[in-house]
Amino acid sequence: MVQEDVLILTRTSLQCRECKREYPTAFIYVCEECFGPLDVKYNFPALSRDTFAAREHTYWRYFELLPIEDKSNIISIGAGMTPLIKAENLGKKLGLNNLYIKNDSVNPTFSFKDRPAGVAVSKAKEFGLTAVGCASTGNLASATAAHAAKAGLPCHVFAPGNLEMAKITQALSYGAKYTAIDGTYDDANRIAARVGDREKIGVVNINMRSHYVEGSKTFSYEVAEQLDWDMPDHLVVPVGSGAMLNAICKGFEELETVSLLDDVSGMHITAAQAQGCAPIVDAFKRKSSDVIPVQNPDTVAKSLAIGDPGDGRYVLKRLQQYNGFAESSDNQEILDAILLLAQTEGIFTEPAGGVAISVLEKMVEQGRIDANDKVVCYITGNGLKATESIMSVLQKPSIIKADPGETITN
Ligand SMILES: Cc1ncc(COP(=O)(O)O)c(C=O)c1O
Ligand SMILES: [Zn+2]
Repeated sequence: MVQEDVLILTRTSLQCRECKREYPTAFIYVCEECFGPLDVKYNFPALSRDTFAAREHTYWRYFELLPIEDKSNIISIGAGMTPLIKAENLGKKLGLNNLYIKNDSVNPTFSFKDRPAGVAVSKAKEFGLTAVGCASTGNLASATAAHAAKAGLPCHVFAPGNLEMAKITQALSYGAKYTAIDGTYDDANRIAARVGDREKIGVVNINMRSHYVEGSKTFSYEVAEQLDWDMPDHLVVPVGSGAMLNAICKGFEELETVSLLDDVSGMHITAAQAQGCAPIVDAFKRKSSDVIPVQNPDTVAKSLAIGDPGDGRYVLKRLQQYNGFAESSDNQEILDAILLLAQTEGIFTEPAGGVAISVLEKMVEQGRIDANDKVVCYITGNGLKATESIMSVLQKPSIIKADPGETITN
């Protein structure tokens, strides 16, 4: 028994991304030496492809690759193992023979944020914290609040005041204590950081960030498994803070470490942002490693409206490492791309997904992607959360009299 306890408790440590100093796992997130972010480091057990095959259909099937020590602390609402769809119709339109959509719009709270939020809330429980929270551009609010509800913990949400009504309604329904800030996401982030430290709240994307980002790695594990343990050639990823893109890279690299994939170094990644809030794309195009914050983001893709991206610098490093690209799209292009995906593949996404599809189109036009490349485009949120903006480009339904003799006009 004692032996087993020792083994379990040393499964992870924390390591500074900058100076590489290591720390025992604890409720900390920055290096006391250099203030760099701390990442989770693992002592992986031996794994084979068969380890996962017969397990539950959620991202918790990859337990050994996630930072929870004791399974009894897992808070699951059934997220993950979302469909990886071969997009034949959209592929034909774009001239791609091997296009796949990773459809995270069908997670329990209808965005990919169920991945990082679920892991962070589970870890908060493991740390013995008595409250959780987040700074949110909309989707994280519901993902955190839903997992907090399942865990029986209070959840404090800090978000800019201009979010879509569906996202606010959803988070409030899960019981979130919701504070709308008269300002930007970056203002909300600063307030959440202060309150979190003062009140010992596990703010999932701030003081729990080391564990939070681990959840998004499951995007890579699932894609690899769904491709029968093969690597995609090119990933298109919508980017706000950059945490997800970084985590996706870490996920593929860990699969190589545990010998579930061969060499992942040949993949390419495109970072997709919205014009009106594209500080990472701007730095990439200037060939600079300096991300200059956008003071007042202005885009229909509110979930990506992060003017001062916490992981921006690391996204640029990843793009360099994987011969990647960065591109942005304007509001009209984003909304058109939402309709293109809906009308070719039957998948209804919110503007963040429109950004990904629109930038994918641009990558093909610019000759960055070959017709036979195996491409995975990440669709990270559901269109039902942003109907106000999407409706603005749709033809209103025609109204006829309730008379069987009436003719249809459209
Ligand atoms: C739907 C959706 N897609 C993508 C992102 C970007 O994720 P990240 O901030 O980790 O770059 C977000 C962030 O809130 C989001 O809500
Ligand atoms: Zn350090």
